[in-house]
Amino acid sequence: MTLIRRTPLIAGNWKMYKTEEQAEDYIQALLPRVSATAGVDVALCVPFTDLRAMIDSARGSRVEVYAQNMHEEPEGAFTGEVSAPMLRELDVRGVVLGHSERRGMFGETDKALALKVPAALAAGLAPILCVGETEQERDNDDTDRKLRQQIKEDLAAVPGERLADVVIAYEPIWAIGTGRVATPEQAQEAIAFIRALVADRDEHAAERVRILYGGSVKPENAAELLALTDVDGALVGGASLEAEPFAAIVAAAARPSTTATGPSPTR
Ligand code: PGA
Repeated sequence: MTLIRRTPLIAGNWKMYKTEEQAEDYIQALLPRVSATAGVDVALCVPFTDLRAMIDSARGSRVEVYAQNMHEEPEGAFTGEVSAPMLRELDVRGVVLGHSERRGMFGETDKALALKVPAALAAGLAPILCVGETEQERDNDDTDRKLRQQIKEDLAAVPGERLADVVIAYEPIWAIGTGRVATPEQAQEAIAFIRALVADRDEHAAERVRILYGGSVKPENAAELLALTDVDGALVGGASLEAEPFAAIVAAAARPSTTATGPSPTR
């Protein structure tokens, strides 16, 4: 068994919320609340229009600023799209890719994600790749198949030595914005399975890759989820929209981040 230290990541996903003025108020409220918290990485995934202001305001703090989407090409005739080099030029640290809202409402495909993930890495952005099953897929015992397909296809073009540079977020779609959080057993089982899928590609990467849980994470349930062996942080939607609950979730992750991992069984 190898003893690996994975620093937890708490990432707030604002979705399509907050004008620049609202974002400024938020960051001024958040920074003092998280400045003393050690042993945890903190990210805010914000609308494109808030990026520059948030990067300026968060500079020198522990809060990193991420985007919520990008196009796979560096430039081109793609009206309304934004590329990885454009984000990097602003000093954006990373990007959410394949969120279920983008997959479900905006036609994001595994084929596009197979191009977006390596394009983000090549530009120096840290991708947070979202995967997860629908309620129907869970009811039909199809969760493992769905996760296997998404992980296999979306990460196909990422070489083994770069797999650990991707953050994976396991977000069961039935738990997103519903208040219906996965049980600790469901979260641990799915995330251990995802880690085993990464191990099938590269065992060393599987020990280092950070896998987050997302879906109705709140201050009240964060500590229990974050204590699970394979859970390396959280992707937080609704509870990230106010500084206080988000800071409470960050505080729940601030613990000695020693995690013992061995190869998980492959199903
Ligand atoms: P939620 O959203 O925390 O509001 O459920 C999570 C997400 O969409 O990433």
